[in-house]
Amino acid sequence: MELFTIRYLVDRIISLACLLSACVAEPACWRNATCINITESAFPGPWQDFVLAPETRVARPSTILSLADGAPLGDYRPGIVLNATTPTLVFDFGVEVGGIITVNYAISNGPASLGLSFTEAKNWIGFKSDNSNGNYRGPNETLICDDGALLVAIASEGNGSYTVPDAKFRGGFRYLTLFLQVNNSATLDSDAKTSLELTDVALKIGFQPTWPNLRAYQGYFASSDDELNRIWYAGAYTLQTNAAPPEHGRRLTQDVTCGWMNNAWLGPGDSLLLDGAKRDRWVWPGDMGVAVPSAFVSTGDMESVRNALQAIFDGQKSNGIFPRAGLPYLDASSDTYHMWTMIGVYNYVLYTGDTDWLVSQWERYLKAMDYIWAKVLPSGLLNATEAGDWARYVYAYNGSAPNMLLYHTLQTGAHLSLIHPHTSKSSYSNTITSISLNQTYLARAASVQSAILTHLWDDSTGAFKDSPQNRTFHPQDANSMALLFQVVPPTSPYAARISESLTRNWTPIGPASPELPGNISPFISSLEVSAHFNAGRPDRALALVRSVWGWYLAHPNGTGSTMIEGYRVDGSFGYRSERGYTDDASYVSHAHGWSTGPTYGLTAYLVGLAVTEPAGRVWRLGPNFAGVKKAEAGFTTPRGKFSARWEVKGQRGVFLTWDTPVGTKGFINVPDAGVARWVEGGKGEMMLYTGEAKFR
Ligand SMILES: *[C@@H]1O[C@H](CO)[C@@H](O)[C@H](O)[C@H]1NC(C)=O
Ligand SMILES: *[C@@H]1O[C@H](CO)[C@@H](O)[C@H](O)[C@H]1NC(C)=O
Ligand SMILES: *[C@@H]1O[C@H](CO)[C@@H](O)[C@H](O)[C@H]1NC(C)=O
Ligand SMILES: *[C@@H]1O[C@H](CO)[C@@H](O)[C@H](O)[C@H]1NC(C)=O
Ligand SMILES: *[C@@H]1O[C@H](CO)[C@@H](O)[C@H](O)[C@H]1NC(C)=O
Ligand SMILES: *[C@@H]1O[C@H](CO)[C@@H](O)[C@H](O)[C@H]1NC(C)=O
Ligand SMILES: *[C@@H]1O[C@H](CO)[C@@H](O)[C@H](O)[C@H]1NC(C)=O
Ligand SMILES: *[C@@H]1O[C@H](CO)[C@@H](O)[C@H](O)[C@H]1NC(C)=O
Ligand SMILES: *[C@@H]1O[C@H](CO)[C@@H](O)[C@H](O)[C@H]1NC(C)=O
Ligand SMILES: *[C@@H]1O[C@H](CO)[C@@H](O)[C@H](O)[C@H]1NC(C)=O
Repeated sequence: MELFTIRYLVDRIISLACLLSACVAEPACWRNATCINITESAFPGPWQDFVLAPETRVARPSTILSLADGAPLGDYRPGIVLNATTPTLVFDFGVEVGGIITVNYAISNGPASLGLSFTEAKNWIGFKSDNSNGNYRGPNETLICDDGALLVAIASEGNGSYTVPDAKFRGGFRYLTLFLQVNNSATLDSDAKTSLELTDVALKIGFQPTWPNLRAYQGYFASSDDELNRIWYAGAYTLQTNAAPPEHGRRLTQDVTCGWMNNAWLGPGDSLLLDGAKRDRWVWPGDMGVAVPSAFVSTGDMESVRNALQAIFDGQKSNGIFPRAGLPYLDASSDTYHMWTMIGVYNYVLYTGDTDWLVSQWERYLKAMDYIWAKVLPSGLLNATEAGDWARYVYAYNGSAPNMLLYHTLQTGAHLSLIHPHTSKSSYSNTITSISLNQTYLARAASVQSAILTHLWDDSTGAFKDSPQNRTFHPQDANSMALLFQVVPPTSPYAARISESLTRNWTPIGPASPELPGNISPFISSLEVSAHFNAGRPDRALALVRSVWGWYLAHPNGTGSTMIEGYRVDGSFGYRSERGYTDDASYVSHAHGWSTGPTYGLTAYLVGLAVTEPAGRVWRLGPNFAGVKKAEAGFTTPRGKFSARWEVKGQRGVFLTWDTPVGTKGFINVPDAGVARWVEGGKGEMMLYTGEAKFR
């Protein structure tokens, strides 16, 4: 038996013992958040050892490190002393965490000050936190106001306790540096007598606020390849760290002078899906394009998605545009993020079947569609004049990326119009309107598609150029989207050439972004993962997953547990230093939902299981083997649990099984094994590649 299986059994026995002796549960959700009623994994099994979420909402450090070189000094235990010999120690939680720290202590020969500083990456352990407030302006500019440290005055003698104030909620860090200052100096004379005993260092975790059990995932993934397993679960955990209580958003930069403040109101509900754990701590719909599908297949947390979408919908402007980020920002200056919100609606409704919510927002959705469609030029291309976007360096109004997004917005809008249940709740809700909307949106999508091929295809390169007037580069974003959104048919020569052209950006640690030179974007690379799968190149998809996410997770200075927002082609963390991040590498977020694409890709394309009609009423199973020996995955919708598994059996083919709710139907599609057929929901199995496919 493998080691992790034994550990799993031991855990089960311990939790059973706990049940029998009626051990009392801690209040397991965040403060006043209402707990959801899910307390257990939907798919228990040995793969739960890959779950990175802490066992309890109160977490403690795992290891103590030396500040000088970051080397481990030993395990964390209560009673560690800060004094003239060791005035500073680094407390490593082992994984990314976030929330409110409490330090209990006993001091003698004070007074003194206790300093606390936080960082996600090990590079910035020390007397200042990594930056999150946005006020740092770089070494050559005047305003330099970084996050700094929290400094707590401590009386002369006795026991005490310090809890970080609510406004100083720290949303994402792995390392906490604690330092003792006497007479404003952290370098204590060797004869200084002050001694601060740390009787407890505890973190109340603030993320995933409504979950009584942070490990109760509603989806799972397991394969014969542990690197892929670790990547899948790091994506899931990243999304957990991005699910925030509404009272802990980041304050606007201009409202903060020095230090940081995370007490801005974010929107409705008890939990919202944000862009990042440390930063920006706002709802950003562009980020949700990757984050929502990955959350669906892994944690299953759709509550945070609905609240985030609602926050954006509530901020819709009178002309129909959605804000490009939620409260407290609400700036509405991005047509691409506007469309990502609309795509987010589709994904949310597809995964949950929550048509009540769709109906309640339908008029706003239609207004949003009218807003964007009104910007289409006589040439057939969108003129996306609200130019905010992800950090890409060049932006053309009629560029290829906004047009790929419009194509998908129209396609998904047509599908949504058919999903809309035609109740009397909406003035738009009669069948005639709905069917004509479907036809209208699909006709518009076809016209955008044709304009894209006419004005943006560069046949000499075999890729889409950045805009009609700019042939100098072929962006990673638009070309990935062309495959992901099937603007070109997946089996066409176009698709094959685009997939091939994307690999020309590759470096050993990921694709060098043509549209953000010098940088690697795990956000756009997340789109590229699904793109290669769609183009029938699972080998490329997995090579990309290993190069980007394998590299980061193995990095000795990273969080080892989450996914970074971006990094540089030279392997340093200073993503977009020259593009808004003011040469401040510590500002980068190391737990960013937009970088979690492999989690969805491995479930939906490697195992091959995905939903195609709301809540999985219809699903598809199209596995890709790509040199992996076995893989399985599952997820949950209101219709129940869906799972599939395959294993390569040497010369005897591939054994494929599935288990889906009765009353659903699915399309099993393995073209090169000659399998393409509909099945009813339930359990099924199939032997592939054994001459004629056997089926029962
Ligand atoms: C929960 O607590 C926060 C912070 O104390 C507060 O702002 C918020 O209104 C509370 N929410 C509810 C639902 O009581
Ligand atoms: C859990 O909550 C959901 C949604 O409120 C509800 O539909 C379901 O019946 C509840 N399940 C249990 C076991 O209480
Ligand atoms: C600091 O504390 C450590 C551990 O308790 C002890 O070994 C050391 O002698 C102390 N140093 C001073 C200067 O008191
Ligand atoms: C990790 O960070 C330290 C401190 O900044 C640095 O010296 C070291 O080169 C980094 N390691 C890598 C692999 O980047
Ligand atoms: C202070 O805390 C210590 C544990 O570190 C305990 O032994 C001691 O009794 C406490 N003293 C007071 C006055 O509470
Ligand atoms: C701190 O300053 C006071 C007053 O100058 C002095 O008496 C004391 O020795 C200093 N303590 C340390 C640890 O330097
Ligand atoms: C795209 O926009 C540019 C700049 O406004 C314009 O010159 C060009 O004609 C447009 N092309 C198409 C096909 O819309
Ligand atoms: C796109 O819209 C802007 C703003 O209305 C306008 O200035 C520009 O001429 C338009 N582009 C084209 C190609 O018509
Ligand atoms: C949606 O529109 C397309 C294109 O006109 C058409 O082929 C399809 O049958 C329509 N679907 C429904 C359910 O009306
Ligand atoms: C085309 O893209 C390049 C970047 O590769 C940029 O420098 C240039 O300004 C762009 N040209 C136009 C006309 O947009």
